[in-house]
Amino acid sequence: MEVNKTLYLQEWQSKNSFYLFIHCLFFFSCADLGKEEKLPPSRPFQTQFEVEDFSSAVECQACHPTHYDEWASSMHAYSMKDPVWLSLQRHEHQVHEEIGIELGDFCVQCHSPVAALTDAITDHNSFTLSEKI
Ligand code: HEC
Ligand code: HEC
Repeated sequence: MEVNKTLYLQEWQSKNSFYLFIHCLFFFSCADLGKEEKLPPSRPFQTQFEVEDFSSAVECQACHPTHYDEWASSMHAYSMKDPVWLSLQRHEHQVHEEIGIELGDFCVQCHSPVAALTDAITDHNSFTLSEKI
């Protein structure tokens, strides 16, 4: 009998905790909804870029000399001037075009993010440095 009583009590307690939990959940979800309404409907972010919107890497050099040196001597910094890079990217475009895939800015998005964001390259098979990328 004593065991049954304890079990009943435990069950009653856990039921009450459950209802308390549900009430809290309801209360906090309402509070959260209230908070969300105060957010602006959309956050402004830039979708169109000009080359002038970007700083030159040299401007970072004064405060980040180590990062600048590491980057400046890497192949990444030279890819737009590197004949190996230019010919590999041309080759990839041709190979993909043959199987019906347009690579677009795929390589350029990393190798010249500024060119990718400003849509500077119109023809990926024949662009030259004179296009000032
Ligand atoms: C006037 C000095 C100054 C210039 C110029 C500057 N930075 Fe910084 N930058 C800082 C400082 C200070 C920090 C914070 C470093 C820290 O918290 O340890 C920082 C942090 C950063 C970080 C974040 C690093 C991290 O751990 O999150 C990046 C990325 C960065 N700078 C990139 C740039 C780039 C790219 C440029 C050039 C366009 C630039 N910075 C120009 C002073 C400068
Ligand atoms: C997600 C970013 C990303 C994409 C996309 C990407 N690359 Fe790279 N690529 C890199 C990084 C990072 C390196 C290493 C740079 C270094 O070692 O300094 C690199 C290195 C290279 C190199 C050797 C270094 C050089 O400049 O000669 C070549 C060539 C190259 N990539 C060509 C391509 C081609 C072609 C494509 C498109 C098919 C492409 N990459 C797409 C990030 C990327």
